[in-house]
Amino acid sequence: MHKLKLKTDGSVIAAIKQSILVIALLFIILPIFIFWDGVTAIPELNEILYDMLIVGIFLLLNYSILIFLLSRYSPVKILKIRKQIINFTRLFLKSETDGLLIHSVKWIYGIKGRKTIIDLYFNGLVKDSAEIGRKLSEYLGLPMLKYEESDGKARYIFANPPKRYDGIMLIGKGIPNEYKGDYKPDVSYEPIPIYDNIIWNYNSEALHILLIAPSGAGKSQFLRYLGGMVLRRQHMLHVIDAKNSDLGRLFRHIGVGVAVETDEIIKMLTKIVNEMNERYSKYFAADNADIDANFTSLGLKGEILIFDEVLAALGEADKKQKAEIERLLGQLALKGRAVGISLVITAQKLNATDLPKSITEQCQTRIILGAVVSDETFHQATGYYKKDIAGAYKGGVGKGYAITPKSDGLAYIETPQMPEKTSDYIMLFKELRDRGTPYGEGR
Ligand SMILES: Nc1ncnc2c1ncn2[C@@H]1O[C@H](COP(=O)(O)OP(=O)(O)OP(=O)(O)O)[C@@H](O)[C@H]1O
Ligand SMILES: [Mg+2]
Repeated sequence: MHKLKLKTDGSVIAAIKQSILVIALLFIILPIFIFWDGVTAIPELNEILYDMLIVGIFLLLNYSILIFLLSRYSPVKILKIRKQIINFTRLFLKSETDGLLIHSVKWIYGIKGRKTIIDLYFNGLVKDSAEIGRKLSEYLGLPMLKYEESDGKARYIFANPPKRYDGIMLIGKGIPNEYKGDYKPDVSYEPIPIYDNIIWNYNSEALHILLIAPSGAGKSQFLRYLGGMVLRRQHMLHVIDAKNSDLGRLFRHIGVGVAVETDEIIKMLTKIVNEMNERYSKYFAADNADIDANFTSLGLKGEILIFDEVLAALGEADKKQKAEIERLLGQLALKGRAVGISLVITAQKLNATDLPKSITEQCQTRIILGAVVSDETFHQATGYYKKDIAGAYKGGVGKGYAITPKSDGLAYIETPQMPEKTSDYIMLFKELRDRGTPYGEGR
């Protein structure tokens, strides 16, 4: 990272630059002026004047290159940013004269891959660092991906967002188009890519996902992708579709268990909890059980439950059923990890009392999508306030933010692109469901 302390007004540097320019011009003009009517009679003088001219041209050339490199048109990215920050500081930040010195802010900046990371140390001169971030983003012409403020310092990360993934390409990678041959997908514990460096690692503390998005913001499309990837990795998939939508129809059609009605939902949850307890008694209860074992080292398939619209399900249930659904979900959330049982839960909003903390707190991968998300939901889902991201909130359909234990704060995401028509990939899903270890075996 590069440091930029704008403590002087740059008069020293300006004086040096001007001196070089004056010397260069003098060295060029003087010989030309004297040589105007032809060379002088003194050969030594001719030689000196000639050398002066060469030096003058050399200085002028270097001076121009230097000015160009240090300008905001510089082809060297880091120098360009340096100049932009200097200009920005003069335009937008208050400085105070302190004798000969000018008391100003301090910047530390650097480029990492496609990201420009800029730290601003306020030095008591900045009131609204979020506002400064917004202005800086406009000034640099780069979207702000991230903003964090801590004692006396703000960090801004700017970058053009990377392209979203092509969901079907990832799910179908390496699978013959006609689904011919004896191709067998292997069970894989490789994390599922979501966007940029955001992944779903169901073999980590971040195995449970809580996905919050208002209607139409892309929950179900994202679940199709995640479900497809679960099949691709050859784990067991279970789907609860409380709104009885085309998501459930898709997975039912290809032979995945789907629950819609309250009693079906309770039955499905009970079955998974039983499976979980069986796995515990089979692999972890014996005296000689390996303490460090988990489902990957035991070679077990993961059991993944996609629960779309959990609040709709709880709303449909009577009091007793609601308590039962919450109890079962709570158990899966709390104990699922070691035996490879993970939850993907979605809801349209999340207020403090909507879901028991015993469930939400276990979901360490949080995703929020959509343009219109209330402050309360945003805060409940991510632990951040919308103002924390400097008004740079850029949610939309399939666009929003993720937070995982590895993501180092809130990260902007776009969910993988899925085709408009289910018919474009239903065969692929069915193929993945049917191939490899017969579904339901390998337990
Ligand atoms: N990842 C995506 N790829 C392609 N299109 C998407 C994606 N996400 C959302 N869309 C578009 O947005 C529409 C709504 O998405 P989706 O049905 O997933 O929303 P939802 O959050 O499940 O809404 P609802 O509350 O109505 O169930 C889709 O029909 C699709 O056109
Ligand atoms: Mg939906």
